[in-house]
Amino acid sequence: MLMKTVQSIVDTRLLCRLQRYQGNNVGLVPTMGFLHEGHIRLVRQARRDNDFLVVSIFVNPTQFSPSEDFSTYPRNFEQDQSLLADEGVDLIFCPSTEEMYSSENSTFVEVTGQLTTNLCAISRPHFFCGVASVVAKLFNIIDPHRAYFGQKDAQQLAVIKRMVRDLNFDIEIVSVPIVRDDDGLAKSSRNAYLNPDQRKSSTVLFRALQHAEMLIIDGERNSGRILAEMEKVIQATEYARIDYIDIVCTNSFESQEYINGEVLIAVAVWIADTRLIDNIQIDLSNLTS
Ligand code: PAF
Repeated sequence: MLMKTVQSIVDTRLLCRLQRYQGNNVGLVPTMGFLHEGHIRLVRQARRDNDFLVVSIFVNPTQFSPSEDFSTYPRNFEQDQSLLADEGVDLIFCPSTEEMYSSENSTFVEVTGQLTTNLCAISRPHFFCGVASVVAKLFNIIDPHRAYFGQKDAQQLAVIKRMVRDLNFDIEIVSVPIVRDDDGLAKSSRNAYLNPDQRKSSTVLFRALQHAEMLIIDGERNSGRILAEMEKVIQATEYARIDYIDIVCTNSFESQEYINGEVLIAVAVWIADTRLIDNIQIDLSNLTS
């Protein structure tokens, strides 16, 4: 099938509905464009799982605060289009801001509680409401059977799963592992902001996470001591400034004083003016210490 590129909500809805009526499974990969290998991993998995594959490209203004990088967020639509054509995507949905948000738009989706009170929610309080709202709109427009999200944005993934459960969306949320450069840096569109020296420093996120993992393998269970060690690693790195580091329960996202069962170790670090996030999940029952 030749890939279609559609800006209109009405046309996209019609095309996706037609696929459903024909008995085809519809998959959705929501993105903000400037695609990298992390996105491509999502697209490939979605391509394998579904008959009709939609990728949305929309830099969503409601998940940026006025002081953030909405206007400078990297964009390269032609490159994205050619990558997605190569991956056999059926439809790119790329609405304008006006198409997605009428000037009278006044409805937002807010996931409340512990999931949206710590980690990224502290320095980006607007973020999860913006994400949940735009993803709910995409779900209503495309009505996919499955939607694909990366584990790098672990808290976003948890928020979307909660929204899907609470609002009874009949959609399977598929989470896809983090893709990293050879030196460990997690793929992210914002990596493009880093100059060569900052790019070298940016490996500190994964190094700090690996250090934490080693401490746990060696038997350390006290989160405070692990976080203090991670802090030392990050503080010793040029350009790096901690936004947060935390060890939380993978389900509730509550900070854990002691490591028990399954935990998520999550970091957000500024490398000069670029804020990067990363995480690893550790399941004590899988550790061979
Ligand atoms: O992860 C992203 O790229 C965005 O937050 C998403 C899910 C496409 C919503 O704008």
